[in-house]
Amino acid sequence: MRIGILTISDRAYQGVYEDESGPALIELVQEHFQQLHDLYHIAPDDFMEIKRALEKWCDDAHMDLILTTGGTGFAPRDVTPEATRATLEREAPGIIYAMLAASLQKTPHAMLSRAVAGIRGQTLIVNLPGSPKAARENLLAILPALPHALELLRGQGDASHALEHPLDTAERELQERNMQD
Ligand code: MTE
Repeated sequence: MRIGILTISDRAYQGVYEDESGPALIELVQEHFQQLHDLYHIAPDDFMEIKRALEKWCDDAHMDLILTTGGTGFAPRDVTPEATRATLEREAPGIIYAMLAASLQKTPHAMLSRAVAGIRGQTLIVNLPGSPKAARENLLAILPALPHALELLRGQGDASHALEHPLDTAERELQERNMQD
């Protein structure tokens, strides 16, 4: 598994403060993924720098997953979603929905994240908010679905690995009952 963690923050980039979100995400992914090869980098809040870093990690480093942290809010320099969208070939709004649903249980400020997620080639890119707490909470919300998402991206998808949703179970039972009638 190749996972890239990209912290996006002018102040962390300039060394004004130490990045805590990137290391927090590295710790979390190390707990959940085996045989992990990770890359870690800090970029400023700059559209072209972010886009270039993402494209390099997708096209040259062939990462399976890139997690960005920071720059998703409403501040004038927050351009992570725009730069990410410019690199994506296909968006994955369900991932954003899952993060938002979980995060709104924690704080109404969750609605202030403009994060996007999607696919470029065989790489899944997910924007996470900037504080270590928010980044962890958002990643925890999507972790259960990530292994299957990454399998599908590599063309190794096997539906039997998917977690069965209660509604799917109900529908299957209904179909079985109909076949018996
Ligand atoms: N999501 C969760 N789960 N927990 C949080 O504390 N903070 C919010 C939001 N998402 C938060 C969260 C806040 S205060 C902001 S401004 C936005 O994420 C955007 O954060 P960013 O600009 O650091 O990316």
